[in-house]
Amino acid sequence: MKGIILAGGSGTRLHPITFATSKQLIPIYDKPMIYYPLSVLMLAGIREILIISTPASVPAFRTLLGDGAHLGLDLTYAEQREPAGIAEAFLIGEDHIRGGPCALILGDNLFHGVNFYATLARSRAELDGCVLFGYPVTDPHRYGVAELDAGGKLVSITEKPADPRSDCAITGLYLYDDRVAGIARELRPSPRGELEITDVNRAYLDEGRAALVELGRGFTWLDAGTQESLLEAGQYVQILERRQGVRIACIEEIALRMGFIGAQECAELGARMGNSAYGRYVIDVARSLG
Ligand code: TTP
Repeated sequence: MKGIILAGGSGTRLHPITFATSKQLIPIYDKPMIYYPLSVLMLAGIREILIISTPASVPAFRTLLGDGAHLGLDLTYAEQREPAGIAEAFLIGEDHIRGGPCALILGDNLFHGVNFYATLARSRAELDGCVLFGYPVTDPHRYGVAELDAGGKLVSITEKPADPRSDCAITGLYLYDDRVAGIARELRPSPRGELEITDVNRAYLDEGRAALVELGRGFTWLDAGTQESLLEAGQYVQILERRQGVRIACIEEIALRMGFIGAQECAELGARMGNSAYGRYVIDVARSLG
């Protein structure tokens, strides 16, 4: 399975922070925002990943992550000229997907929870059509909202409903089978001029091939799109990391644990950042797992 991180957009809710830099490059506590979605794809065992961003920001992402070889990854980059919708990722990424299954994750989404690794593995194994991930929120009208029947089966998806039928928001992580680019090609832009991901998901739902995995209590899903949510996400990561002494979304550690790189390579990556607490953590991880 291939992966796509969609890290474009205009980040208008974060102005003036995002006038000169991409939202997905600004930090959530101790690391750039894109590390969080990247670590999710890595945990899902996905190594061939396309990063899509604005023409102005692609060079900065390339500087940050390069070709990914140091992490045992194969990273490539593409531009989205205008924020013409999330589903445009499949048209921009059509060559990358090459008719195979694909995971898409939004570049400003943070997922954290116990056994997420196992959830991802199971979802990949059981993929038949598409798998969406739902999370209970207090403000569902801001999101695509999923309605489930009594048996937990997905029955409807509504984009930003005025009167939501449930509190289950559809998060920014999606798994699709090999037909997703074809489905995206048939889409018409919505009234707001975007190729909507909800329309892709509805096409799968209409065939009865859209599953929803509920990420419930004990799980955290945050998007860092506003000043408040950005600060809250940073505080969440800080509290967790300081309390437990572990770092979340440490891509060097994940690369080592997933077997993408060895302990020696991991230690070298840490040494390059040895002046920071993050770098020293990477060195310690390499020592303890090596
Ligand atoms: P949004 O948060 O909806 O949009 P945005 O990032 O442009 O921010 P704002 O609303 O403050 O102007 O986008 C969600 C994620 O999807 C975010 O990571 C940006 C990304 N995105 C794109 O890369 N291209 C797009 O066309 C759209 C709609 C979103």
